[in-house]
Amino acid sequence: MKITVINGNTRHGSTWHCMDLLKQELSRNGKIEVTEFTLPRDMPHFCLGCFSCFLNGEHTCPHSEQVSPIVAALEAADLIVLTSPVYALDVTGQLKTLFDHLCFMWLSHRPNPKMFNKVGLTLSTSAGAGLTHTRKTMQNSLKFWGVKKRFSLKEAVAAMKWEEVPLEKQAKIKRDIKIMAKKVTKTVNNIDHLPSPVFRSFMFVVMKQMMKKNTWNPTDKNHWESQGWLSGNKPF
Ligand SMILES: Cc1cc2nc3c(=O)[nH]c(=O)nc-3n(C[C@H](O)[C@H](O)[C@H](O)COP(=O)(O)O)c2cc1C
Repeated sequence: MKITVINGNTRHGSTWHCMDLLKQELSRNGKIEVTEFTLPRDMPHFCLGCFSCFLNGEHTCPHSEQVSPIVAALEAADLIVLTSPVYALDVTGQLKTLFDHLCFMWLSHRPNPKMFNKVGLTLSTSAGAGLTHTRKTMQNSLKFWGVKKRFSLKEAVAAMKWEEVPLEKQAKIKRDIKIMAKKVTKTVNNIDHLPSPVFRSFMFVVMKQMMKKNTWNPTDKNHWESQGWLSGNKPF
């Protein structure tokens, strides 16, 4: 299984330890090949809001040198893992800024067909609050990239570092992760047989109608045309 991990922070804290346990459990279920990015180290820039990715193509983004390898790794993965501790009831700023850079490949712009048969997993830890909102922010990106099947793990660790998480709690987290790793492995192995998510199919139909009338962004429209999606081809 090819896995691409985006770490939403650089610390080897609770979130990283959960991600590491997940890798260990996944490797028990079969061979894994992992590509990891750690933020903000591997993509330190804020989106400038220049619209160049939308209007002129993603390779014209001023930060394309950092963003393109991440997109290539997402494209190559069977499983995408997004991780973040909760900061101010949401994802870390560094993860959010990567999400901003990837809006060009949302279903509402230029959906990437390589995303359509992937499994995504979001993983977050917090002291206690904000996990639901943080999960939603991460899941939204997977959803709007068109990822086929999504899972989430969220753990309230009530600690500032992994070493402070009580052993009983660590054992519970390990059990959660083991169960999740089994589910994810089964899903990756069966992905071709799973139905397309209803939301994705609905968005495709809505956006197809929009793209037919699109006079505001030829780059987006050309993408839909070149895939044959405006002349009857269906991606899923
Ligand atoms: C800047 C900052 C903001 C945080 N905001 C929240 C928060 O809103 N809610 C919460 O429950 N925990 C919050 N925490 C605690 C962390 O989410 C929690 O300790 C998490 O497990 C840390 O992950 P890490 O060990 O991987 O760094 C915050 C921590 C930091 C450093």
